[in-house]
Order: sequence, then structure tokens, then C-alpha cells
Amino acid sequence: MRIEKVGVIGSGLMGSGIAQVAAYNGFDVTLVDLDQERVDSAIAGIRKRLEREAERGRITAEACEDSCHRLSGATDMGSLQSMSRMEVVIEAVVEDIEVKSGVFRQLGKVCRGDALLASNTSSLPLSDLAAASGRPERVIGLHFFNPPWALKLVEIVSTASTTEETLRDAMRFCEKLGRVAVQVKDTPGFIANRLLVPLIFDAIEMLDNGVATAEDIDNACKVGLNHTMGPLATADLIGLDTLKLIAESMFEEYGEPRFKAPTLLRRLVSLGHLGRKTGRGFFRYGG
Ligand SMILES: NC(=O)c1ccc[n+]([C@@H]2O[C@H](COP(=O)([O-])OP(=O)(O)OC[C@H]3O[C@@H](n4cnc5c(N)ncnc54)[C@H](O)[C@@H]3O)[C@@H](O)[C@H]2O)c1
Repeated sequence: MRIEKVGVIGSGLMGSGIAQVAAYNGFDVTLVDLDQERVDSAIAGIRKRLEREAERGRITAEACEDSCHRLSGATDMGSLQSMSRMEVVIEAVVEDIEVKSGVFRQLGKVCRGDALLASNTSSLPLSDLAAASGRPERVIGLHFFNPPWALKLVEIVSTASTTEETLRDAMRFCEKLGRVAVQVKDTPGFIANRLLVPLIFDAIEMLDNGVATAEDIDNACKVGLNHTMGPLATADLIGLDTLKLIAESMFEEYGEPRFKAPTLLRRLVSLGHLGRKTGRGFFRYGG
């Protein structure tokens, strides 16, 4: 299928990053969120990032301008009528099964029959979203990594109902986005988060038990294990609220203690210390 128009639902950390990657790679992108303020601020953020890339000589000024021209916003989160002409729709709203199911129910009503319906969920059952859409054969998981413009991996997730053609379309789309794809079945956490979440939780437990400081725990992983980022800084980057939601659904599915959100994580979320996005998590950011 020929893909030109891409819809991205949810303009937060991931949605705005995915929209940026799609616009940069030549797709016309419509970014949807609950209100104009969120959409405007996401589009302004994308422009800022692209301009910075152009200033650093990593992309041309023309590519920056063209990408921004290919981006537009919408706020019809209830009806999602703006998605009716899209060939691909990528859902990246909050990690909540009710909210996501509502989006897929609506997409099933308004989208073209052949549209590829994708979710960026990290841990929720894709099969539930596929069922909610009423057209499970065209539903696929496209799990991008944070930040999407820098990390090239996409986990392509299929359910028992995903067709070969859908999988092929998704592979080709990821290739056009310049991504590296791996294929995985619909299992909580897929490949990367299934490995990463227990590592982060062990780091949090060590910190809470006074075994070592946050800096030393992260340094041990960076210098000793050659990780680019330590687990606590990674948690701050993901967003502690999002990490907690991811863990809750993994714990519910696997029932294993290694996926249970540690007390310190839950307390920080209660206090609104959500990581980089609020300036404080396991580390402090900005001023
Ligand atoms: N943060 C990460 O590192 C990461 C990485 C990969 C995948 N994901 C997945 O991407 C998705 C989005 O995560 P994020 O980090 O971008 O979250 P975020 O909190 O930054 O953004 C979520 C967006 O969803 C919007 N939204 C739309 N409808 C909503 C509703 N009814 N209720 C609440 N919010 C609503 C919010 O306005 C917000 O802009 C989640 O499924 C998450 O698991 C996150």
C-alpha cells in the first residue's frame, strides 16, 4: 500500500517524537491531542529540535523547514474524524487500557478500510486494542524508543490476528522511517522492556536500601557494563509515571515480583517527581 499520510494520536514525549521522525522522512503528519495548547506546544517542540539539528549541521535548513510544513495538528480526540484519510495511524496516548481501547474503537469506525492501525504501547495487550478496533487484521504494535528521533529501534508487535500483509506494510513503513525493526509476539514488555524493567527496579531497590548512591549505581552500569545511560537516569527519561503504568500491566500479566513497582518509585510518582519532564526524579534537571 502507498503511504503518504500518517496520523499520530497523543502529542506527549513519544507522540511528538514519532511525528517528528515521520515528518522528517517525508510523510504528511497530523498530530492529535486533547486540546490546542498541547498540540501547539508539541509542534513548537518539534520545530525547536529540528532547528537545533540544522544549526549543528546534522540536517539541512531546507529539510527542517520542509518537515515543519508537513506537520499539522488536530484536537478531535473524541471523534478522531481527522484520521479518516490517513493510511497509517499511530496511537501514543497515556498507557491506560481504557483510554487506548476507546481510541481504537473510534479508529475502527472512522479510518479507511485498509489503514494500518498501530499502537506504541509498551506493555498493554495489543490483542485487546485489536479487538476494540473491530478490524484486528490491520492492527500492529510499533513500539518506538525514547527519544524516537535518536533511537532507531522499533519493536514490531503482531497478534494472532495480524495478517502477513499488515506485517509487511509495517516493515516497509519502518524502513521508510529509517528505523531498525525487530519482530515480537504480543507479550507484556515485548523484548526490551522485559529486560529493562527488572534492571531499573533492582537499581531503585538498591538506592532505597542505601546500598549505593544514585550516581554510583548509574556509573557502575555505564562504566562497568558499557551502558550509554544508567538505569536510574533511564527511568527519569522514560517518566516515572509512565514506568509505573508499564510495570503495573507487566505485573498483572506475569504475576512475577520482579515486575512489581518498588515503593520508592510509587512515592516519587505520588509526589509528582516524574523525572526529566518535571525537573526531578532520581536526579535533578535544569536550574
Ligand atoms: N516514555 C517512554 O519512554 C516510552 C517509550 C516507548 C513507548 N512509550 C509508550 O508511549 C505511550 C505514550 O507515552 P508518553 O511517554 O509519550 O506519555 P506522555 O504522558 O508524555 O503523553 C501522553 C499523551 O497522551 C495524551 N492523551 C490523549 N488522550 C488522553 C486521555 N484521555 N487521558 C490522558 N492523556 C491523554 C496526553 O495529553 C499526552 O499528550 C504510552 O503507551 C507509553 O507506554 C513510552
